[in-house]
Amino acid sequence: MQITKTEETGFCFGVKRALKTLEEAAQKHGGVETVGPVVHNQQVVDQFARLGVRVVADPDEVKGNVAVIASHGLPPQAAEKLKSRRLTIIDTTCPNVHKAQLAAKRLSEAGFWLVIFGDPAHPEVKAILGWANQQGIATLESSDIARLDKFPKRVGVLSQTTRNERQFTNFVNDLVGLLLPHVQELSVLNTLCDVTRRRQTASLELARKVDLMIVVGGRNSANTRILAEICSSAGTKTHHIETAAEIKESWLQHGKSVGVTSGTSIPDNVIDEVMLKLMEMKRRSDVGN
Ligand code: F3S
Repeated sequence: MQITKTEETGFCFGVKRALKTLEEAAQKHGGVETVGPVVHNQQVVDQFARLGVRVVADPDEVKGNVAVIASHGLPPQAAEKLKSRRLTIIDTTCPNVHKAQLAAKRLSEAGFWLVIFGDPAHPEVKAILGWANQQGIATLESSDIARLDKFPKRVGVLSQTTRNERQFTNFVNDLVGLLLPHVQELSVLNTLCDVTRRRQTASLELARKVDLMIVVGGRNSANTRILAEICSSAGTKTHHIETAAEIKESWLQHGKSVGVTSGTSIPDNVIDEVMLKLMEMKRRSDVGN
């Protein structure tokens, strides 16, 4: 059995930055509240809960004096609500996400109606739409645009930062065909995150070479779910796990190769535990044959 890990795993710079800021805030202010989980990883959220960090679903639920904006960002209207209550606000929005927010704001202020390629239920996407003052739509299906009753004159297109580049390109191509006969101006901005793109490329390359892929990351993490989809799209059996405890001996067979990759909100020690467990299984499998 051969085990290979992609070069880049563990936290991305945006997650590292968010966690460092939250840790400092918790040390300085004691109990702080994050609006939504700081990152989409339950183990990380549990770790911070031990430092007194509470997660609330909505800005209105903040009870204390310090509110933390999670790495996925918040619509400016929600941040304003917090400010109006004179709370101390600590912003851990990833700089790449903030770039997408500013792009949405710029386009909407210039009179563009926005199409965001992303999951409408994801907090990052909801926030970006908020930065465009709700002047647009978030969707993963170009057919939603085809169904519009009336086409706006100017349309701006951008993407949730962690989406797949190929799917975004296909979406944009569909939109060009659909909208060009009706609109005066179509502006496409590439707001995809570079770290995500590199991980997707490396994971796909590895998935093409191995018999089994293990993708480590939170089940509610968009970038991890997309990595798992990409690995399966190579025709390789893929398991999305959160911890080493989920790995089953029956997945691994002697002589088969295993690839490991991870989402961007998973701590290094979890990857280390996954690698350790796989190495132990390899040793047992090698001894038994
Ligand atoms: Fe930011 Fe990209 Fe990480 S958007 S949080 S650097 S995956």
